[in-house]
Amino acid sequence: MDRIAERLADVARSGRYILGPEVEAFEREFADYCGARHCVGVGNGTDAISISLRALGVEPGDDVVVPSFTFYASAEAIASIGARPVFCDVDPETFCVTRESVQAAMTGRTKAIVSVDLFGRLAPDVRGLGVPVVEDAAQAHGARRDDRRAGTWGDVATFSFFPSKNLGGLGDGGAIVTDDDEVAELARRLRFHGSTDKTTFTEVGYNSRLDALQAAALRVLLPDLDGWNEARRRVARAYEARGLGSADGVEPPRFEDEEHVFHLYVVQSDRADELQRTLAEREIGARVYYRRPAHEQPAMADYPPMVDLPGTAEAARTHLALPMGPLLDERAIDEVIAACASG
Ligand SMILES: Cc1ncc(COP(=O)(O)O)c(C=O)c1O
Repeated sequence: MDRIAERLADVARSGRYILGPEVEAFEREFADYCGARHCVGVGNGTDAISISLRALGVEPGDDVVVPSFTFYASAEAIASIGARPVFCDVDPETFCVTRESVQAAMTGRTKAIVSVDLFGRLAPDVRGLGVPVVEDAAQAHGARRDDRRAGTWGDVATFSFFPSKNLGGLGDGGAIVTDDDEVAELARRLRFHGSTDKTTFTEVGYNSRLDALQAAALRVLLPDLDGWNEARRRVARAYEARGLGSADGVEPPRFEDEEHVFHLYVVQSDRADELQRTLAEREIGARVYYRRPAHEQPAMADYPPMVDLPGTAEAARTHLALPMGPLLDERAIDEVIAACASG
């Protein structure tokens, strides 16, 4: 915290609060970290998706495939640019889309796919289906497969730096990451009212920039991200090693190497509600996130799914997030497991 406070004071003294050197430095460092050519800092992870879709050429009336089992913003960002969210299913064991579930939802009007690295797990690669992919990596900073990180599994990737994320700032923030020079250039204009010089406005854009104060804080935190993610994986391994899977009807998440950064540690259980109550009685916080998936939200009534979503229904019914954080110790883990076993 002291290091962050010092950096924030430096920015306050500098008078450079909007874009400027701190944001540029973070953009360079985060692009390098992800292994991509460009990073464009924006106001939040929701705008990051909307701006990315527009930079890819998605227009009002176009279809964009998106899982329903995700935070609502993944779909909202599509509808808010006048495009149509077309909901696809997820695999209830990984909580992510599959290539097949995406293909099943594609229509002749599909112009893009938004895949989501949900709960910290990299989604399968869904490129090569004839339309560009936006990887919504809001929950998966640092996840890695085959030496390639979250942020490089689509034509564009989007991040949120909401405080609770694996890389979280001191308020709202987001980023767009891409190798595509033209998409990066257009995203840069769109985040700034569709302008490069504040005098000529070529697109109707957004006022959505990563704040210099947030960039300064994120620059302090970024070097520790891999260490925290490894600590989260240690907690996940400890849950299994100490016997969570043998608690009645609790299915721990399976994972390979560094593909998962455990933004959340989400188990499956047919008695998720009962388990949550049992844990609450012992003052252990467990949470259900997407019991009502995106397609069932009132605001999505105009976009009824065109395919069945059985995996989504199962995931919505059975998921339960148990305590997770880089500092969770073995005693706390044992208490959770004992509570699960007692319920
Ligand atoms: C999967 C997913 N997509 C998008 C968002 C939107 O990010 P933000 O809250 O920064 O707008 C979030 C985070 O809240 C998220 O979890």
